[in-house]
Amino acid sequence: MPSLPQYSAVVPAAGIGKRMQAECPKQYLQIAGKTIIEHTLTNLLAHEQIKQVVVVLNANDMSFAQLPIANHTNIKTVMGGQERSDSVLAGLNYLSEDEDWVLVHDAARPCLAKSDLTALLQLANQGNVGGILASPVRDTMKRSVGLKTNQQNVVKYTESRENLWHALTPQFFNCGTLRKALTEARNKNVEITDEASAIEYLGEKVILVAGQASNIKITQPEDLLLAEFYLAQQQAK
Ligand code: C5P
Repeated sequence: MPSLPQYSAVVPAAGIGKRMQAECPKQYLQIAGKTIIEHTLTNLLAHEQIKQVVVVLNANDMSFAQLPIANHTNIKTVMGGQERSDSVLAGLNYLSEDEDWVLVHDAARPCLAKSDLTALLQLANQGNVGGILASPVRDTMKRSVGLKTNQQNVVKYTESRENLWHALTPQFFNCGTLRKALTEARNKNVEITDEASAIEYLGEKVILVAGQASNIKITQPEDLLLAEFYLAQQQAK
């Protein structure tokens, strides 16, 4: 049987996670006896098509090197930047010029299902520049007049839910195209919140691959219990 194509993954982990109100960056909070980032990296390394993971760390990060997984032969680390897109670019710059496709996955998403990753990797070399895992929105979506944290907010109007998706990670793109997209967006000061938005900025097509809604990004303290539940379910399978 021919061997499966192998890809590198970049895991941006240089954020400080202000919304968690925790002592340490959210990726170092524990779920089921391991840090969030260890669950995330273990998931990626367990996939037979992931050859290495480049973890992008904050310049002040003292925690990652203490974790046993930091010594894994297929894990490399680089220093991140001010914005998430700067951190992703730092990770891409570590990779060799001949890398064909690259996967980018948030450190704070520990519940990625293997089948979703396999489905996303099928996008390589199919005549497009790549795509992302996404899940259709379920709730009615309200646009508020402004957004005030901890204060009363007022509805401006109801957004149509039709054709609306949550953009998840991993996001999987042709490496050269993603480098170009992130660099051009940065040079033009375009706000980029995920890799796909940089690709959209270039005018390229981004494919949406429907993924499981359990692939949550740990953002609020209550997400920890939910992630623990999903991880237990996945391990029981
Ligand atoms: O803050 P947010 O939840 O959107 O961050 C998503 C991911 O991007 C996290 O894994 C975070 O550590 C990472 N990030 C980064 N560099 C930054 C900001 C965020 O690597 N400057």
